[in-house]
Amino acid sequence: MSFDTIIRGGTIATASDTFSCDVGISKGRIAALGDNLGAAAEIVDAAGLLVLPGGIDSHVHIAQPSGPGIVMADDFASATRSAAFGGNTMVLPFAMQQKGESLRQVVKDYHAKADGQCYVDVSFHLIIADASDPVLGQELPALVNDGYTSFKVFMTYEGLALSDMEMLKVMSVARETGALVMVHAENYDAIRFLTDRLEQAGKTQTKYHGASRPIAVEREATHRAISLAEIVDVPIMIVHVSNREAMEEIARARRRGLKIYGETCPQYLVLTEKDMDGLNMEGAKYVCSPPPRDEASQQACWEGLQQGIFSLFSSDHCPFRYDHPHGKLAPKGRTSFRWVPNGIPGVETRLPILFSEGVGKGRISLNEFVALTATNHARTYGLYPKKGTIAVGSDADIALWDARREVTISQSLMHGGTDYTPYEGIKVTGWPVATMLRGKFVVRDGKLEGRAGDGAYVPREKSPLATPRGAN
Ligand code: URP
Ligand code: ZN
Ligand code: ZN
Repeated sequence: MSFDTIIRGGTIATASDTFSCDVGISKGRIAALGDNLGAAAEIVDAAGLLVLPGGIDSHVHIAQPSGPGIVMADDFASATRSAAFGGNTMVLPFAMQQKGESLRQVVKDYHAKADGQCYVDVSFHLIIADASDPVLGQELPALVNDGYTSFKVFMTYEGLALSDMEMLKVMSVARETGALVMVHAENYDAIRFLTDRLEQAGKTQTKYHGASRPIAVEREATHRAISLAEIVDVPIMIVHVSNREAMEEIARARRRGLKIYGETCPQYLVLTEKDMDGLNMEGAKYVCSPPPRDEASQQACWEGLQQGIFSLFSSDHCPFRYDHPHGKLAPKGRTSFRWVPNGIPGVETRLPILFSEGVGKGRISLNEFVALTATNHARTYGLYPKKGTIAVGSDADIALWDARREVTISQSLMHGGTDYTPYEGIKVTGWPVATMLRGKFVVRDGKLEGRAGDGAYVPREKSPLATPRGAN
């Protein structure tokens, strides 16, 4: 047998095993794993490198409308290019509904934005902002059937926050259709109350963003989301968990047998609230929600990763330029933290940060790294085993890693649309040196080889994790 490509001499790691063998690739899929695989049109020398499943970042925001005068820094081309340089072969952005919009039309609009633009594969979660009867009764079930098998609901943000009644209704549709609900858990009224109070006291600098949404805000909403899910008997994913108290709500629910899953992100491992205390609006670079907390919360998030309370490590990439009137320094944002666009870039730095801080420092194993950054994302969102592993029959989505390469993260190394990285100056050991999408290099030796349009839309199966307890 002759292959299109053989990756030779590398060390393969999956979510369960680490082993040395060659990878034979034909027609974009992994066709053989073994030694002496024979001939191929191209032999890739991976001696001294790790051969890992391409990263899947299942929580990114791309080209989303973000309020009056605010524009996201990434379109689908720049975000997916940045993702590829960061060792990712797939991202799952959101198709965000706004009130009054048809969900079907929203999905069409996001496809139009993405089609022909992407460097890595994409699939869409939905954001449900308008839980009206036509949306929940007809559009949503039809879209789940069409492969949009997960949706996010917000418990905060003007125009997005759902009431408890609406949450219950959305969760019921998820239960009926077998979709997975992702929850942004922060208490909207508490944030508004605290924000008003801070502003009345003249506390408008970016550093007060953290004080406007303290841990109790997140803990309460997490507890409430879990209770609502229990009432409906539906599994949910609590996204971007930032601290111990919210994590413990998830752990407690799991001990009671509920199917509650958790996700955390790089900002909760390596940033703190002190980062939002920069002079001259520098702190705006770190404003995201939930906000980065303190060192104790970082430690808690590590424990959540180590103990499997968090099965996903995603970037929550939500890119705005810093020095730009449509970004963090928008005129209104200078008047109060309330108006600073929420969100930070991170799709390109997610993997190196977890590899270096996690695997490099002995906090997690290499196999746990693969699970947290690729395999679990594929399993959770109905893509496994097509995506997220190195196995015969899977797509040849592969990242080659130099585990010894030392890099200081810097904006000059980034390939996205923002003008800064919140991780500037962080030293990492371990870096993705090549990214292969379905057997074709997108990035090799620091150079872009792929083309916009190489990345394809991938419809998804229903998540095996979304099965309700009562259905077992
Ligand atoms: O601040 C954040 N995280 N912005 C992105 C939107 C979200 O809530 O995930
Ligand atoms: Zn969110
Ligand atoms: Zn997000």
